[in-house]
Amino acid sequence: MKKVVILSGAGMSAESGISTFRDSGGLWEQYRVEDVASIEGYLRNPSLVIDFYNQRRRQLLTVEPCRGHYLVAELERHFDVTVVTQNIDNLHERAGSSKVIHLHGELMKATSTAHPNDPSQLVTLDAQHIDIHMGDKASDGSQLRPFIVWFGEPVPEIERAAEEVAEADIFVIIGTSLNVYPAAGLIQYTSPSAPVYLIDPKEVPWNSFHRFHHIRKGASEGMEELMRILTKDEA
Ligand code: APR
Repeated sequence: MKKVVILSGAGMSAESGISTFRDSGGLWEQYRVEDVASIEGYLRNPSLVIDFYNQRRRQLLTVEPCRGHYLVAELERHFDVTVVTQNIDNLHERAGSSKVIHLHGELMKATSTAHPNDPSQLVTLDAQHIDIHMGDKASDGSQLRPFIVWFGEPVPEIERAAEEVAEADIFVIIGTSLNVYPAAGLIQYTSPSAPVYLIDPKEVPWNSFHRFHHIRKGASEGMEELMRILTKDEA
């Protein structure tokens, strides 16, 4: 089976009703990134940040995967698929994708403030345990925090993601403005023989990189078109 690696961003979940970050009306027009999505912001005002993610977690319970998520999962019938997502939602998993690498963490998990990347500290959150409160402790005794990779923190999964991209026969980018590194740099790991497909309704700034096939559509319609392209030989 050919190996397909998909890099998804906030645009993947836009049609599920979760706002993107940098489109008009996006999350970074309502909040300052440095206040709610940086390690400095968390250390400065942990309760503000904990509450910001409690709100986003509550919203996640009210939305569903979009058709695009389901089509990404359906690709697994034809290819060996790895999803590398910048999204902290669990919509790829809920749509049935079986191999998902979360570069920026997971909204439905919590961890230790002192040892955030120690797997033994992870706590799974769910509808019965949806909020984190000041005073909640991880097993190492430090304040429980969202299992999110904030600006200013390391991205532990980037090495694994880069290895996946380097082995991809086909690379697909869906719904990311490619503004944030190291995620945006994954494109540089593709082999010269791997076609690159971009699904995004808008142009994406790209420093002199022109060999991608741009499907200028939203995630769901774009994935419909990509499925036709990638499975036409099987018809
Ligand atoms: N379908 C597909 N793509 C879409 C759709 C849609 N319906 N709507 C918008 N887009 C595209 C936009 O054109 C844009 O290119 O999705 C992209 C969203 O870009 P951003 O809002 O910058 O989101 P993303 O690239 O995922 O941000 C990366 O920044 O703040 C951090 O950690 C946060 O993971 C996030 C990272």
